[in-house]
Amino acid sequence: MSQVPSPKQSSRLTIASIARLYGEGHRIAMLTAYDYPTARILDGAGIPMLLVGDSLGQVMLGYDSTVRVTMAEMLHHTKAVVRGTSRALVVADMPFLSYGVTPEASLENAGALMSEGGAGAVKLEGGERSARTIEAIVRAGMPVMGHIGLTPQSIHQLGGHRVQGKTRETGRQLLADALAVQQAGAFAVVLELVPEQLAAAITERLAIPTIGIGAGAGCSGQVQVITDVLGMSSEFTPRHARHYTELYSIIKAAAEAFRDDVAAGVFPGPAESTRMDDATLDDILGRTSLDRPDAVVSGGGIPLDRDL
Ligand code: KIV
Repeated sequence: MSQVPSPKQSSRLTIASIARLYGEGHRIAMLTAYDYPTARILDGAGIPMLLVGDSLGQVMLGYDSTVRVTMAEMLHHTKAVVRGTSRALVVADMPFLSYGVTPEASLENAGALMSEGGAGAVKLEGGERSARTIEAIVRAGMPVMGHIGLTPQSIHQLGGHRVQGKTRETGRQLLADALAVQQAGAFAVVLELVPEQLAAAITERLAIPTIGIGAGAGCSGQVQVITDVLGMSSEFTPRHARHYTELYSIIKAAAEAFRDDVAAGVFPGPAESTRMDDATLDDILGRTSLDRPDAVVSGGGIPLDRDL
């Protein structure tokens, strides 16, 4: 496998482009994005797939889990990311209970993320249990990315963020889940928190790309949560994540410097301020040049605004 070539192309990537990158043996990078300015940067950096993940709930909205995220929130953030990109394939997460309850609701919600939100694909959690939903959405013409292993929307059932598939039974179930997702028509599947040997074995057995997060280097691609990559939290960072910079301390230092400059009266300075023609200002304030506060001789007569 080799790295994805640097982008020259201006048109938006599709699932066919992702299949081509995978077929050519490129490892595929995916990052989460939730807002316009970050999406612009990531798109400009040539990240081929951006995920508007429902991790939005924890990392942007301050919820305690993804279970709280609504369709309205996913739509709002998907639109912003789509507006910030011209090249990346934008994949939008289907939030908790927006799929798998009734086929009609699954189609309607997937359709909203694509037609209203502008996403190029949707992602939903679950292997065999979600196969029929994936099939129905794909049959309706909407590309689906699967998500198996640790599925955060089931966190209350799974009992915590634990590596999945470490036993004979759960490992076999994970393999069955991967095959079911592929069979249902998904164009790719996220493997989250899976032992690296099992993730590599699943990857070898599939004809669609696996996108790993905490699943080792043997996957076809990797996805990470952007706030982890940028080091934006002073608290917990998952073991599978690597900080590529330390934005938390960089942003904090910048905010402290700004606070101090405002307090000292040195922001804004001449470079950040605009002056106008003094005579026009005199006209606006109904005064002569002699009435100016910095005039050597005070004019008197016309009341100045500071005298009113
Ligand atoms: O919501 C999210 O960020 C995700 C990734 C962990 C794959 O689903």
